[in-house]
Amino acid sequence: MEIQSYLHAITSNIYGNTTSLFVVLTVIIVLAHVVPYLADPAGLRAYPGPILAKVSKFWLAWVAYHGHINTSVHNAHEKYGTFVRISPVEVSILHPEALQQIYGHTSGTTKSDMYGAFAQFGGTLSVFTTRDFVEHTRKRKIKAHIMSLKSVVEFEPIMHSHQRILVKKWDRMCEAGAKGKGGEEGSCVWQPGNGRAWFDCMQCDLAFGSPFGMLDAVRDTTQIATSQMAAVESYGVEGAKLEYVTISAVEAINTASGFAVFLGVLPPWVRPIVSCFFTAKIKSRDNLGSMVATAVAKRLVSSVSRQDLLSKLLEGRDEEDRPMGRQELSAESLCLLGAGSDTTASSTGAITYFLAQNPTVQAKLQETLDQVLGPPGGDSDNGDAAPYNKIKNIEYLQDVINEGLRLHSPVGMGLPRVVPASGMTILGKAFAPGTVVSCPTYALHRLPSVWGADAEVFDPDRWSQGDRTTMLKAFAPFSTGPR
Ligand code: HEM
Repeated sequence: MEIQSYLHAITSNIYGNTTSLFVVLTVIIVLAHVVPYLADPAGLRAYPGPILAKVSKFWLAWVAYHGHINTSVHNAHEKYGTFVRISPVEVSILHPEALQQIYGHTSGTTKSDMYGAFAQFGGTLSVFTTRDFVEHTRKRKIKAHIMSLKSVVEFEPIMHSHQRILVKKWDRMCEAGAKGKGGEEGSCVWQPGNGRAWFDCMQCDLAFGSPFGMLDAVRDTTQIATSQMAAVESYGVEGAKLEYVTISAVEAINTASGFAVFLGVLPPWVRPIVSCFFTAKIKSRDNLGSMVATAVAKRLVSSVSRQDLLSKLLEGRDEEDRPMGRQELSAESLCLLGAGSDTTASSTGAITYFLAQNPTVQAKLQETLDQVLGPPGGDSDNGDAAPYNKIKNIEYLQDVINEGLRLHSPVGMGLPRVVPASGMTILGKAFAPGTVVSCPTYALHRLPSVWGADAEVFDPDRWSQGDRTTMLKAFAPFSTGPR
């Protein structure tokens, strides 16, 4: 009996302590959010927005986690107008002029701390993640030769060789479909119907010349080193012994960027705590880094010499003629893979989808292309994708691409920028140093004052029939300015 009362006293005590701890923690958390809101050091209280967004970054993190950041911010602008407070420190500004004022070369803004969440290889920064102006200029210099038009055109033979494999696979499926046969190859399954083959065409092709082999295998899996850093250490070492695991590359890419945005909108000190609850996603993110490091490692000991993104990265030098070290090379390779593959895959996927949905547009585009390139299967058709120099001046093709990028910008969120120490004025409103400002691309591309009441409709003709200059000022799928 004595022991029972003793245990009862302990449990009540623990229960009492836990309750008090919970109450104290709740009070601290509430005060930590409400006091800064009331004190309003940056003078943002006048800006409307969802109440939760005004007091906490939780609102932005929540919509980012669920992949709704573009539509939620768009809806908030429809409700609240041009200026919307989307976090205690960030104001989203929906106006074509805000685009230049926030991102233009003379704006003086820098990237926000969100970009730190994209860094891997022990936090090594890339041209994309660095926030420092001087470091960014250095990195841009190293990579500038890769991004020139001349360099991109030099990649055409690589793209054609991949495209040939893809078309050959698709042709085989279509021939089988025409004979009423279904089948599967790798992870691609097709069904016959109406003399055609029906399958999910969302295949992915990636940045470096050789090592992923996904098109050949018709599946999106690839082998990666289990340790990112071991792969980095093995650069240039013939016969290095690495442990490998097979992963889905597309899943790693898709998870990494979405999850980095979610983590990035949280305060930096909260990120490691939150990460503990998302070990699978952290693993996927790390897998992407390993995938890149494994590809670089394989490529560096390969005897085949080829001109691809990696060879161009290896040629890069800063103003003191120094090449990149291993960590920086890894970070920049990851940057190219992350920035270049998902964006091109999702925009070409979207444009293909819009064309399939709009047979009239598709027929008009086909006719326009046939006039320039000759009919499919004709003398001038060698089966390759048309070279850039033959199609660069086809206005209707550009209008179709622009219209697809308008409705489906791979990067639709407002890219967060920090107001410089001198403060800045946007659309006549003064913003204090340190405030985060952004202009949301997804909403900008649907602004009725620019695109009209049919902004949601895929209509490439709007580009030739409407006011192209005004539209281009509100069109920013690639952002604008030095980044
Ligand atoms: C349809 C295709 C693409 C779209 C829509 C797109 C869009 C963008 C956008 C909006 C940014 C600005 C990001 C920010 O400031 O946070 C950006 C940055 C960047 N993109 Fe792309 N991109 C595309 C393709 C590519 C490709 C193919 C590459 C290279 C292989 C690439 C490399 C980069 C790099 C390195 C940056 C960082 C620039 C910096 O911060 O200085 N992108 N891209």
